Amino acid sequence: MAQTAGVTDRIPLVIDTDPGIDDALAVLLALASPEVDLELVTTVHGNVELAQTTENALRVLHLAGRSDVPVAAGAAGPLVHPLPTRAGHVHGTAGLGGVELPPSPASVDPRPAVVALAELLLAHEPGTVTVAPIGPLTNIALLMAVYPEAAQRIGRVVWMGGSAHRGGNVTSAAEFNAWADPEAAHAVLTSGLPVTMVGLDVTLPTVLTEEGIERFRSTGGTVGETAAAVLRQYVDAARDAYGISGVVVHDALALTEAIVPGTLRTVRRDVVVGTTLGAARGQTLVDSRSVSTADTAVEVAETVDSDAAVEFLVSRLASYGA
Ligand code: RIB
Ligand code: CA
Repeated sequence: MAQTAGVTDRIPLVIDTDPGIDDALAVLLALASPEVDLELVTTVHGNVELAQTTENALRVLHLAGRSDVPVAAGAAGPLVHPLPTRAGHVHGTAGLGGVELPPSPASVDPRPAVVALAELLLAHEPGTVTVAPIGPLTNIALLMAVYPEAAQRIGRVVWMGGSAHRGGNVTSAAEFNAWADPEAAHAVLTSGLPVTMVGLDVTLPTVLTEEGIERFRSTGGTVGETAAAVLRQYVDAARDAYGISGVVVHDALALTEAIVPGTLRTVRRDVVVGTTLGAARGQTLVDSRSVSTADTAVEVAETVDSDAAVEFLVSRLASYGA
């Protein structure tokens, strides 16, 4: 793992999210990490409907005692074609594994997500803010279209999504976040924004075992216990889907890269996204024939120290009980 920054160098962070079980873990990870300052959460349609992802975001922040972090709601659907289905069968119909978190005293920010995000970016020095989209890229594509001058100020986009060589998880070709809005994904991944793509190639090998879950459940206080309870359904779904004992917390690995830049080894690749309505819809086509020199190239994560990444997550979640 790369060296972490001192607390004085905290990275201003925005998480754009569709909670979502692994989204919840990713937000809790960020809040337990002094390297970053979570200044805004924006919500997007994805695993479940927008109203639910937004309510879930409010409740996860409240669980961690951080209902001060503003939550601004974004896009309720993809840019062009409606989604045929969501992921309630994986995340539970309410999106948090069937666990009812206490309601937050905070209300959703009155600003639309793109306005809140643009205002934050314009208030910070260019290149200093990390934006971590861990759902469909609809809000980021809209930001680029409506506030291009703000989008250009983003320091890093660390996206959980896509797949170079591991096929898909929602179809044989497509990873869910790319599939949920392929047009948005194509726009962002070919925009020239400084995107790091944290796809299935590095998330699938990074399995949070039941032993790791037990560690933060037993030592992480109420947050640890609740995180373990929320994961229960995800563990069962992972066993049924992949036959593994443990769970792939995709979004938490993306946040690990946002918190500790350099956690993942990346290679600059040209990436396009399948936007036809056929079998390849949402496929991220990563050109691995060469290292790209194009300004529009994406830093594609190709190698991960999975044990170190899991230990980082477990130890940070356990710290809620300190
Ligand atoms: O493919 C995994 C991604 O899809 C994760 O972000 C998960 O939360 C779902 O949104
Ligand atoms: Ca997600």
